[in-house]
Amino acid sequence: MKAALVIIFIVLLAGCGGNQSALEAHGPSAVALKDLIVLFTLLCFAIWLLVTGFLLWVLARRRAEPRQDQAAEQRMTVAVRASVAATVLVVAGLTVASFHATRSLNSGADDAVLVSVKGQQWWWQFTYKDATQASIFQAANELHIPVGKDVRLELESIDVIHSLWIPSLAGKLDLIPGRKNDLTLRADRPGTYRGQCAEFCGLQHGHMAFLVIAQDEGDYRQWAAAQAAPATEPSDAEAAAGKVVFMSKPCAACHTIRGTPAIGSSGPDLTHVGGRQTIGAGLLETTRGSLAAWIADPQTLKPGNNMPLVPLTSEELRQLSAYMEGLR
Ligand code: CUA
Repeated sequence: MKAALVIIFIVLLAGCGGNQSALEAHGPSAVALKDLIVLFTLLCFAIWLLVTGFLLWVLARRRAEPRQDQAAEQRMTVAVRASVAATVLVVAGLTVASFHATRSLNSGADDAVLVSVKGQQWWWQFTYKDATQASIFQAANELHIPVGKDVRLELESIDVIHSLWIPSLAGKLDLIPGRKNDLTLRADRPGTYRGQCAEFCGLQHGHMAFLVIAQDEGDYRQWAAAQAAPATEPSDAEAAAGKVVFMSKPCAACHTIRGTPAIGSSGPDLTHVGGRQTIGAGLLETTRGSLAAWIADPQTLKPGNNMPLVPLTSEELRQLSAYMEGLR
């Protein structure tokens, strides 16, 4: 039985790898939380060993005649007092450690990069408000951050409660309608880290993921400048036809493509959608094929989401996906 439990535990732990693990900490907040997890686990394990060891020792002892002498009574009193004191000490110690770790989470520098995060069913809107940027711009489901710099996220929700969690970079914090929460994170090294909504928020809660891409400062500045720029013009006739389709169909009523007449705001900003690694909040890798599949039948790919099915001919679908893919 014990061997089976050990095997199950090892198999479960093996699933904790990859780029979405609180045990692979790559930022100060995540390191503080990981230390706390390790402290709690080791301490609780030590206490479990002690209690189990004591229990086994008691069971193994030969049962003697119960004695009610004064010495035995005194020993019992001392044992009870000692265990109460030890419990109070351990609980108080863990409380202080938790308090200390929690306080260290919200210590953003004044020159932090500022990003407003709006959670909604079921995607993430990121608005870069960094004062050093020429202009504010919006992106969706992909958060780029400079390595080694504090990034302050202002978390809001426009519908139900969501929760932003990037296990490798920072602990999770709720996005609550009508309230603004602040979360500061920092990545210590370049990399791609997966984030996930961590509060059940409806049918597609599981498909409310995003990527955090930590880049060297120069690369980040370059990326931000490119994102702030309006959309590139279609490079061929097919994509140009796709642009016409986009503007003439309901697409433009819900989505913005900066530099075009499309200024809808209920769906993700598509100005640079082709440059993002995934579409549908981490649902599919961005390719021309996945873009076409998504436009053709969003309700089969992600049932319940707000993207309606827009009737298109197969030619219009080809043109539209060519246009989307070219928006880098
Ligand atoms: Cu948003 Cu779960």
